[in-house]
Formats: sequence, structure tokens, C-alpha cells
Amino acid sequence: MAKYRIAWLPGDGVGNEVMEAARIVLDKINFDAEYVHGDIGWEIWKTEGDALPQRTIEMMKTCDAGLFGAITSKPKEEAEKELVPDLQDKGLVYFSPIVRMRQEFNLHTNLRPCKAYPGNPLNFKEGIDIAIFRENTEGMYGGVEFFPLPQDVYDALDRNHPKMKKFKDKGLENIAMSTRIMTKQGCASIITQGFEYAKKFGKKAVTVVDKPNVLRETGGLMIRTAREIAKNYPGIELWETNIDAQCMWLVKNPQDYEILVAENMFGDILSDLAAQLIGGLGFACAGNIGDGFAVFEPTHGSAPKYFGQYKVNPIATLLAAKMMLEWLGELEKAEKIESAISAVISEGTVRTYDMGGSNTTLEMAEAVAGKV
Ligand code: IPM
Ligand code: MG
Repeated sequence: MAKYRIAWLPGDGVGNEVMEAARIVLDKINFDAEYVHGDIGWEIWKTEGDALPQRTIEMMKTCDAGLFGAITSKPKEEAEKELVPDLQDKGLVYFSPIVRMRQEFNLHTNLRPCKAYPGNPLNFKEGIDIAIFRENTEGMYGGVEFFPLPQDVYDALDRNHPKMKKFKDKGLENIAMSTRIMTKQGCASIITQGFEYAKKFGKKAVTVVDKPNVLRETGGLMIRTAREIAKNYPGIELWETNIDAQCMWLVKNPQDYEILVAENMFGDILSDLAAQLIGGLGFACAGNIGDGFAVFEPTHGSAPKYFGQYKVNPIATLLAAKMMLEWLGELEKAEKIESAISAVISEGTVRTYDMGGSNTTLEMAEAVAGKV
């Protein structure tokens, strides 16, 4: 029996191609795993009306970890139109299977390392090495939303908050509401992980990013919790910043930041900004990490226009595989993959289109495999 059981979730479009690339490297390194395919994504939505079918969820529960490729995702109305005729008008609603997976398995932490590998022609600056800890199940993406606003929700808010008055005459059918629900536990967990990471890797500061000057209650909770937790880590500084200014500083002085901690939506935004600093989507990987289970992914989408061409850069997926090995405790193998990636990047002879080259997805994977 293999040592690990891995949920293999290629998804749509180029998700399949980058996962094929990942297998080349994982096999080369003799990662002792059984890979179990799981259906997920747009194609499954179209034919089954569920982008993350129950059978996939059950299968994932039997696995140690998952590796996920990419999915296509479209707005609600378009999603319904693309369903097979049998499933039309049944009131089926498309939900992002990634977001659902995070909530279903309580993958509360989204870790996004953004490292500028030396010699990457796409680096915005050299010397960037940032780990982003994004809360992954609460906050603005927690999913508690209304449209139109139900009367009783309106009334309860009106009774409890003077600011509801200004919406009084607009009509409930004209009001949409998305909530940002944050818990002390959720804040504490993500902040603690940032500090633990700082301690483990000898970093000098943890930057907690929010907007407490405006979002007084949720942002306030985040910052107060951060101050409490920081006391347990005497040698590590807590830097408190606002999301807007932080975006500017990340462009100005990205090397100054090593660990960023943020709520779900702010973390989502920071992650894309930071990803672009180190080469863009071809280099951006993420771990969705829970207490006993985790799913790793490149953060890019399914790139329909490139599907079938084996053009996209698989490095993000290879880095996701590396993160998976790290999380499973296979540190030596993880290290080998990362060194191989780093060597291929700095040599510069094999490059995908985004890096200015013309090598294919699989050629890049072979080049990395050749160095492990
Ligand atoms: C990400 C993506 C997802 C998110 C989308 C596809 C739901 O942007 O993983 O960052 O916002 O979490
Ligand atoms: Mg995102």
C-alpha cells in the first residue's frame, strides 16, 4: 500500500495540463502515493448541476491531502444557462467549488508564499519573499448575503443600528447585503499561524493588514486580537497596517515584508498583488489548510483560451505540490522540488510563454524533474 492517499482534482481546462506536469515531478521524486481522481468544476456543473459532487467530498474524506488544478467559474445567470436541458429551471445555483471545499472541510488557513526566485525575468524586484496568511472561511467571503434584503433582517438591523435609517426609503428589493462576519477564534488562529511561522523561520515582524479605522468592529477585533497574541512572541514585532496603504507599500518596498496576515477578502486581494510581484499567476501557489486535511493549488484559473495547447506555466502547480509534501512532512522531497524549480528558473534555458520562452507545460515539468 502506498504511504499517502492523495485526492487528485484536475478540474477544468489547463487544470488538467498542469496536473499532468505535477505528476511528472512527483513520480520522478518517488513520492509514495496513490492518486484518487475526483470530479470537480464547470464540466461537472453542466452535466450534474453540482460543481463539487458529494461523491468527490466523500472520496476526499478518505485522503491525506489533495492537489487541485483549476476550474472555470461564471456568474450565476450564465451558470444556469449552461446546464444540460434536463437540469434547467430546477433552481440549481452555482457556487464556487473552491469556496465550498474550504468551508466543507474547514480549511481555515490559506497560505500563499510569494517568493522571487533569482533570475525569473518576471520578478518585479529581486529579494521578495513574502508569506501571506489569509483567513479562509469567514469574513467577507463567509457567504452570508442577501438580495433582496428580507424584511425581518432589515427590521432587526434597524432596531439595532441608527445608520440603517438612511436605507429606509430605498425599498428592500433595491438593497443587496454581503456581511463580513469575523470571530475572535478565526482572527486568533490566522494571526497565531503568522507568528508561529515567524518564529520557525526567524523572521522579525508579522504584519497584520486590515482597515480598523473604518471597519471599526471587524477590523478592530482583528487588531486587538493581534496585539494580544503578539505578547506571546517577545522577539517578533507586530506591524499594523491598513489594506489600502499596504497595497501601495507592497509595490514600493516589497522586500520589507515577510509575513502578511489578513481576513479572507483582504487576503485575496493582497495575494494577487503579491503574486504579480514574483512573476504572476504562473508562480502563485496556495495551500488551503485545515486541522487534519489540506488542499494545495495553483491560484490561476482554467485559462480556456490556452486549453489543449500545453502552454501555461506549471511552476505554480509544482510549487503547490512542493507545499503539499512539506505539509505531509516530506521535507527532503519538498526541498528537492524547490531547488530544482529554482535551478531551472535561474538557468533560463527552459521558459514558458509567460517568461518569454516557447517551451511547453510538460517540457518545463521535465526540466524540473531532470534536476531533482
Ligand atoms: C482565490 C480565488 C478564489 C477566491 C475564487 C476563485 C473564489 O480568487 O483562490 O484567490 O477568491 O478565494
Ligand atoms: Mg484570489
